[in-house]
Amino acid sequence: MARLNVLAFAVLAMATMAAIPAADSAQPSLLTFIFGDSLTEVGNNNFLQYSLAKSNYPWYGIDYKGGQATGRFTNGRTIGDIISSKLGIPSPPPHLSLSKAEDAILKGANYASGGAGILNETGLYFIQRLTFEDQINAFDKTNQAVKAKLGGVAADKLFNEAVFFIGIGSNDYVNNFLQPFLADAQQYTPEEFVELLVSTLDHQLSRLYQLGARKMMFHGLGPLGCIPSQRVKSKRGECLKQVNRWALQFNSKVKNLLISLKRRLPTAQLTFVDTYHDVLDLINNPGAYGFKVSNTSCCNVASLGGLCLPNSKLCKNRTEFVFWDAFHPSDAANAVLADRIFSTVFSQSHSPSPAPSSGGRPHHPHHPHH
Ligand SMILES: *[C@@H]1O[C@H](CO)[C@@H](O)[C@H](O)[C@H]1NC(C)=O
Ligand SMILES: *[C@@H]1O[C@H](CO)[C@@H](O)[C@H](O)[C@H]1NC(C)=O
Ligand SMILES: *[C@@H]1O[C@H](CO)[C@@H](O)[C@H](O)[C@H]1NC(C)=O
Repeated sequence: MARLNVLAFAVLAMATMAAIPAADSAQPSLLTFIFGDSLTEVGNNNFLQYSLAKSNYPWYGIDYKGGQATGRFTNGRTIGDIISSKLGIPSPPPHLSLSKAEDAILKGANYASGGAGILNETGLYFIQRLTFEDQINAFDKTNQAVKAKLGGVAADKLFNEAVFFIGIGSNDYVNNFLQPFLADAQQYTPEEFVELLVSTLDHQLSRLYQLGARKMMFHGLGPLGCIPSQRVKSKRGECLKQVNRWALQFNSKVKNLLISLKRRLPTAQLTFVDTYHDVLDLINNPGAYGFKVSNTSCCNVASLGGLCLPNSKLCKNRTEFVFWDAFHPSDAANAVLADRIFSTVFSQSHSPSPAPSSGGRPHHPHHPHH
């Protein structure tokens, strides 16, 4: 049964891909709204005074334009930055940097926030972060502001044609369920927990649909058991197999959710962006992609928090490392993954823009897909 569902999904995903246009001079530029966690954040948490989930200090951003920290949780660009650049559009700015009165909100926004999860209680110990619920509420406000500007019909058309990228769920494991002292870890079995995540996500995606979202791309989880912060929990620095199984289970259930949503919301175009196996291959065969190290991070994060602090020591060559800190891929790894996503999801011809960052790699041969 599960196998059948996955197959049905593959057909659905292919049908959907063709409908999402790649950048093309004949087409108006693509409007994008981004939701998620620290893998996609571009600086919202800088606006949250008490948030402990911040990265607005060195060495973050060392390979970004100008070498400055922006609130991105990596040394350079996020996957979203790189895909935006391939689409020929600016990377949408943090929504908290935009005033609702400005016309800038007509050009897309990024609602992602480090520490955020599907569940309200995820990332509680960061004091402040925009949970997925908060992000959708913020988009609701954007929606109202755009309606006030353009009128309902034009606003609906704008949202219906926009692409909504959503990447969330890692923190529900890493900063919630995998922390034995938190209530959710004590209260739920892994099966109950994934059901709770998926049923919550069902409501959240349905709400985005009610707010006008039609083209939604959900980026699934990577092999969370292989990130440096999890590896250090094993005796010999290996990937935690159990954690990887949970990530796979989450991905499989979200794929089924998208199939079920598609039945209930007939005009929705839902795509599951699955990079689990690409990330795992990058980790298992770093040399095939020009990397040298994938079992530890470039920034030597001895601290409990796992972030790269100003007094941390950096590796010599940042393009040789898959991971930047204990949680987040490096700019170079993001470039490989963005290439992968772009070539599978945005299938039509495109003219890639040059990489803006000195940390980026000019080109990666595609690794054969298994
Ligand atoms: C999460 O928080 C929002 C308010 O931010 C609330 O409306 C919602 O009911 C909460 N969800 C759950 C499951 O508690
Ligand atoms: C990473 O792998 C290398 C061998 O490829 C090994 O020498 C090193 O100890 C490992 N590092 C960690 C932190 O596990
Ligand atoms: C960094 O590593 C990459 C990949 O191994 C290599 O191509 C590049 O020359 C190195 N840069 C320096 C400054 O050593």
